Amino acid sequence: MTENKGNIEIKNVSKVYPNGTIGLKDINLDIKQGEFVMIVGLSGSGKSTLLRAINRLHDVTEGEILIDGQNITKATGDKLHKIRRSTAMIFQNYNLVKTSSVYRNVMSGRVGYYPAWKAALGLFTKEDQEMVKTNLSRVNLLDKYYVKARDLSGGQQQRVGIARALMQEPSVILADEPVSGLDPKTTKQVMNDLKKLNEEDGMTIVLNVHSIGLALKYSSRIVGLKDGRIIYDKPIEEVDKRDFKEIYREAGDDSHLDAGDDVEAD
Ligand SMILES: Nc1ncnc2c1ncn2[C@@H]1O[C@H](COP(=O)(O)OP(=O)(O)OP(=O)(O)O)[C@@H](O)[C@H]1O
Ligand SMILES: [Mg+2]
Repeated sequence: MTENKGNIEIKNVSKVYPNGTIGLKDINLDIKQGEFVMIVGLSGSGKSTLLRAINRLHDVTEGEILIDGQNITKATGDKLHKIRRSTAMIFQNYNLVKTSSVYRNVMSGRVGYYPAWKAALGLFTKEDQEMVKTNLSRVNLLDKYYVKARDLSGGQQQRVGIARALMQEPSVILADEPVSGLDPKTTKQVMNDLKKLNEEDGMTIVLNVHSIGLALKYSSRIVGLKDGRIIYDKPIEEVDKRDFKEIYREAGDDSHLDAGDDVEAD
């Protein structure tokens, strides 16, 4: 991977939805290449809104977001396309085409490198076909190459989602609750795959979770959101589990604190 790619600067970002709901309020975050940032917070605190703002799946109302110094909030056309390509997204519901093969789903992560007509005709280079195999191997699913996505387990589908993201050759991976709905063993596989990309390839990872337990095990930094604001931001070395008791107790909900405790990081 190219040196020093994967920096995210979020400056004074606010987002008000068209119906007047405040999604984000004056967010400032500086995320450096190679960080594994976990965003925690109660339902409705703004985690998904923040993630979607980073690769501009939606526009913000105020402020700006820079990816490796490039302003994605203002970019258009080819420039926007290129910045977006460097930030791959992984979704809670996997977003696969269920009736298509694993191969086709993974290759779809590459279409941003082709003119639309070539992609539509499936005219992918030999190198890119090899790249599909390489990336499927990385998530241990090469044997599922021809299988339809709908015939895979949830954890396998999510790992196809990771392989698809890798086809973008991203410097940033954004993951919106990629493991909720998965059992502990599968959660561990998916989280370890992401950790590997972070450690071996130096990819920056920003991941939303409900589970503090997971955040404590895998992140290098934890950011807490509440009502669209950052109320917590610490490197993992400084994090004290009791901090979250305060954050969650206010909402009268302790369930987030233990989840993920049965998932051991390797
Ligand atoms: N499309 C939308 N239109 C209006 N309001 C929205 C929209 N999407 C989200 N919101 C509101 O913005 C706030 C933040 O929502 P967001 O989805 O970012 O929360 P979240 O932290 O991801 O929650 P969850 O843990 O449930 O996924 C909430 O008040 C939510 O109701
Ligand atoms: Mg969400």
